[in-house]
Amino acid sequence: MSELTYPLARQRPFDPPDELAELRQQAPIHRMTYADGHQGWLVTGYAAARAVLADPRFSNRPERMHPPIPARLDLTKEMREQFRVPPGFFLRMDAPEHTRFRKLLTGQFTVRRMKQLEPRIEEITGACLDRMAASGKPVDLVQAFALPIPSLVICELLGVPYEDRDQFQNDTKVLVNLETKAVDAIAAMQRVSAYLYGLIQRKRAKPDDDLLGGLVESGELNDEELTGVAFLLLVAGHETTANMLGLGTYALLTNPDQLALMRDDPSTVDNGVEELLRYLTIIHLGPVRNALADVEIEGRLIKEGETVTISLGAVNRDPERFPGGDHLDVTRPAGSHLTFGHGIHQCLGQQLARVEMRIGYPALLRRFPGLRLAVPPEEVPMRSDMSIYGVHSLPVTW
Ligand code: HEM
Repeated sequence: MSELTYPLARQRPFDPPDELAELRQQAPIHRMTYADGHQGWLVTGYAAARAVLADPRFSNRPERMHPPIPARLDLTKEMREQFRVPPGFFLRMDAPEHTRFRKLLTGQFTVRRMKQLEPRIEEITGACLDRMAASGKPVDLVQAFALPIPSLVICELLGVPYEDRDQFQNDTKVLVNLETKAVDAIAAMQRVSAYLYGLIQRKRAKPDDDLLGGLVESGELNDEELTGVAFLLLVAGHETTANMLGLGTYALLTNPDQLALMRDDPSTVDNGVEELLRYLTIIHLGPVRNALADVEIEGRLIKEGETVTISLGAVNRDPERFPGGDHLDVTRPAGSHLTFGHGIHQCLGQQLARVEMRIGYPALLRRFPGLRLAVPPEEVPMRSDMSIYGVHSLPVTW
């Protein structure tokens, strides 16, 4: 039995756990013991991660997975049966079921469509910065900037009233908290689903000119499926980018030369965003997959039924792919990072996230050239307890 369990504890705020780097040095793939005793695998090498994520012989269905960490161990067999993948929650489906949903949505998230949103995202960002300037200092950058921008944008895009955000922001936090009990996670999921189901019904009665309204009109999905799609887009659409904006700003504030490049040299911004995505890899745990057949990856035989956890944090620091990758360098070619995943589940919203960050970072840094932490760095509360890493709050002044 392997002595290795999934390493979660970080020694420094921007680096993945040191143990992962040591493991990666030894091999790209390792035997790992899962929270229920299952003997599965941990991937730390870049090429091995791409191979697993691109291979249709690995499933993403939750009922096949063994838990990599001891979270939600109160999940009983009955609960598991009762709460299979909600209809429409296509992240946890395999092809061809997944393909049907993905095809319906791909056109809504193209580079061109996201480009059209730029003026509105600039407006939203400007309004957040105005409010922040007016509010007096210090402020918590998460509440003033990092969270409202992606939340407002995804709400407008989907057609979810932003005034209703209390109905989903708190529950989203519950869902991404690794310490949440299964019973509480299910309750949170049910609350958000009930809210979104009601919203879909209202859109059915009175069609709206937004993404969810368009999906209702298309007649392709039933109300349960629409609820699952809305759930996935809403949760994935704000919590992730919010943490990139918060943690990314913290990383820049502690790397002033990199900050200056992002603020003063517009030609650095697009690449700088990719580098921040790579360096920070906010996906703290996973992706996780389960083998549908025996598959050989980098000389190791993964047997049918075995679970594989990929540490994107380790993978994005693989020196074979990113030499010197433990340093933040906004001029480094970082575009091949795996922060958005790879293969059929590669992030649907990545272009939206990019636009929000390409607008957000430079706008913040130019508006507040004297921006700095308002507390000693060691007092910034890190989200080590969340499946999406970042900062719980970021007190700043200027
Ligand atoms: C910096 C921000 C973001 C990061 C780091 C991120 C990361 C990821 C990753 C790693 C996956 C793949 C998970 C897996 O393979 O198991 C994924 C999938 C997904 N993401 Fe994102 N994401 C971000 C922003 C967004 C946004 C803004 C949206 C908004 C719509 C979004 C929607 C989705 C959806 C719908 C999927 C599932 C795709 C599928 O299964 O086909 N994400 N994301």
